[in-house]
Amino acid sequence: MPCRWKAVDGLVRALGALRAESFALEYDHAEPPVLEEAARTIGDAAQVTGATLDAPEDTERLMGACEAIVAARARLKSLRVTRTRPRDLMGPDPELRRRAARQLLEEIGGLAKSGQAQVILEPTRSGTSAACIVGVIEMPDRAAAYLEPYSRARRRKARGARALLWVGRRDQLVRFEAIVRACPLEGRRVLDVGCGPGDLLGFLRKRGILPAHYVGLEAQPWLVRAARRRRYPKCSIVEGDFVKDPATMAVGADVVIFSGSLNLLSSRQFYRSLREAWAATRRWLVFNFLCTPDLAGARWLHWHRRAAVLAFARRLGAVVHLDDGYEPGDCMAVLRRRR
Ligand SMILES: C[S@@+](CC[C@H](N)C(=O)[O-])C[C@H]1O[C@@H](n2cnc3c(N)ncnc32)[C@H](O)[C@@H]1O
Repeated sequence: MPCRWKAVDGLVRALGALRAESFALEYDHAEPPVLEEAARTIGDAAQVTGATLDAPEDTERLMGACEAIVAARARLKSLRVTRTRPRDLMGPDPELRRRAARQLLEEIGGLAKSGQAQVILEPTRSGTSAACIVGVIEMPDRAAAYLEPYSRARRRKARGARALLWVGRRDQLVRFEAIVRACPLEGRRVLDVGCGPGDLLGFLRKRGILPAHYVGLEAQPWLVRAARRRRYPKCSIVEGDFVKDPATMAVGADVVIFSGSLNLLSSRQFYRSLREAWAATRRWLVFNFLCTPDLAGARWLHWHRRAAVLAFARRLGAVVHLDDGYEPGDCMAVLRRRR
């Protein structure tokens, strides 16, 4: 299994689905002993899953966590059926359970292996989206995979921040505020990678922060048109895809910024684009990323461990600062070249 973190991510999501199942029990007014048993079951599975975070390369641990999740699923299912007599419940046959766990491990590992696969999730009865994997389809075009959700939002006629896949304007603003706190933009040449309609520049101008020049790079033609319609001074909007064509980032910027535009990239592409952006910037590289599965519920979103991002940034030789205090589940990295 080449990408163990994918497997850990899969386990954490499966655990989230179990939690949703136990909330459903509460909702069904199950009796206190049943709820206690459900909490114990989830606690056991969480403990074993948590241990995989320390050693994602340890297959035995991964398998142990899969077994715990399979066992917890069965237990919760039985609890849902009885709701009143937890002591009467029989555990499933251990061999069957082991086979089911192996199957879960393969599903999670297979997901990571192809790199071009998309998992189809089926909602549970309790309504959560991170429920069970019911199939895997091949993605014909990698480019479509990281841009398609934006196209879908447009087809749904989403407006404003929602068209950019933010939950709301607040989510966009807290990130912009974190960026201006972390990095001096006044009088600098700024490249905003995945700029959408250029909201960041509008935000800066309102605050009286005027870059020497702003370049917005955007792949979606309708967002490029929207950004150009604003006719901001000292601003160029370039249509381009930084994944397919990293040279689009070589505009001589002092500061290269990604806000939200890395969230749909696989881990491999995430780090590759960051390396290319670091090569393109004269001094600063600022980006935000999802750092826990909490905000990465949709199947197209990817999260990354803070420690891994920090180690990566240090290997680039950068002076690094991480800020994860502005929004739970999101983190901003600020990299500066040494003089
Ligand atoms: C979450 S939105 C954020 C937009 C803006 N940075 C903001 O903070 O409001 C991400 C933007 O990045 C753009 N984007 C994603 N992948 C891209 C790529 N490979 N090349 C250029 N733009 C991309 C999307 O089209 C979208 O407009």
